[in-house]
Amino acid sequence: MIRKITIIGSGVMGSGIALSFARYGYKVVLNDLTEEYLEKADKRIKANLALLVDEGVLTSSDREEATRAITYQTDLGEAVKESDFIIEAIPEVIEMKWELYRKIENLKKADTIVASNTSTFPISRLVENASFAHQMIITHFFNPGHLVPLVEIVKHEKTEEGVVEETLNLMRKIGKAPILLNKEISGFIANRLQTALMKEAFYLLNEGVASAADIDTAVTAGPGFRWAFTGPIEIADFGGLDTWQRVFENVAPDLDQSTEAPNFITHLVAKNKLGAKTGEGIFKYEDSVVSEKLNVRDRYFIQLAKVKAKGE
Ligand SMILES: NC(=O)c1ccc[n+]([C@@H]2O[C@H](COP(=O)([O-])OP(=O)(O)OC[C@H]3O[C@@H](n4cnc5c(N)ncnc54)[C@H](O)[C@@H]3O)[C@@H](O)[C@H]2O)c1
Repeated sequence: MIRKITIIGSGVMGSGIALSFARYGYKVVLNDLTEEYLEKADKRIKANLALLVDEGVLTSSDREEATRAITYQTDLGEAVKESDFIIEAIPEVIEMKWELYRKIENLKKADTIVASNTSTFPISRLVENASFAHQMIITHFFNPGHLVPLVEIVKHEKTEEGVVEETLNLMRKIGKAPILLNKEISGFIANRLQTALMKEAFYLLNEGVASAADIDTAVTAGPGFRWAFTGPIEIADFGGLDTWQRVFENVAPDLDQSTEAPNFITHLVAKNKLGAKTGEGIFKYEDSVVSEKLNVRDRYFIQLAKVKAKGE
């Protein structure tokens, strides 16, 4: 029975994952290297809880319970010692992850499941050298982790079947939509699909086919509008496979075939124009605009989650 969850790394993802568990009554320990990081995470979690209350998803007493459910701990041994399920959400640097696995080896309980939130490493690479490979699994949450339902689950050939089942059940208990990958593949599923679309979006921008804003609208008001409820495979079935066969035959040869990062991105990165975090990327951003946009985005996500929950 899984009761206590430890999240290691309290950044963008770790804090969202911690909140995902806390709001469903799990005891959560959030671990990071310094008090300063944990204070930031605490602030982020409180702001996200406030939004959930404001949008009527949680009551004030739910918020208090969720707040009480999370403890903040810089001592790794204390953080993992009674944990039933650990999620590692530290930076995407393989040596850092390996070192952490080595450290927790003798600190955690013998039967604790250890999951990684990695977005790029294959599980076969993560488990290298780990004595508890049979208890390891990937749980790939999406940003914002407390709102996006998808969690991609990737197992290793050594991962015990019981670990896979427990992980899938746990994700369902916190209202997530877990999917299980049958085999290892870089980028898993969702990021592969997203990258394929973004590659073409930047190609269209580079070719001057439309403005950046219009290309975005083509997605948000078009296919993206449908995608929250109908996936691409079902769309093909409903559109008619004969129609889609012709679409592929007519359009696929014209699609961007490059295998490198889009020019548009490479040139801007060279000028340190990294997007919202530096105030300029494809579009320009003022600080106040960024936080307001994120706030509005999260409110839309909450509304969408409500609509989806009603339909299920
Ligand atoms: N940011 C995203 O959109 C996103 C989405 C899905 C998955 N991921 C993956 O999630 C993981 C975390 O990403 P993030 O964006 O939250 O990173 P982040 O940089 O925001 O947070 C990482 C946190 O880990 C802490 N940390 C570093 N070493 C540690 C250690 N040894 N012990 C405890 N804490 C430690 C850091 O202090 C930091 O607070 C990465 O594997 C990343 O690839 C990120």
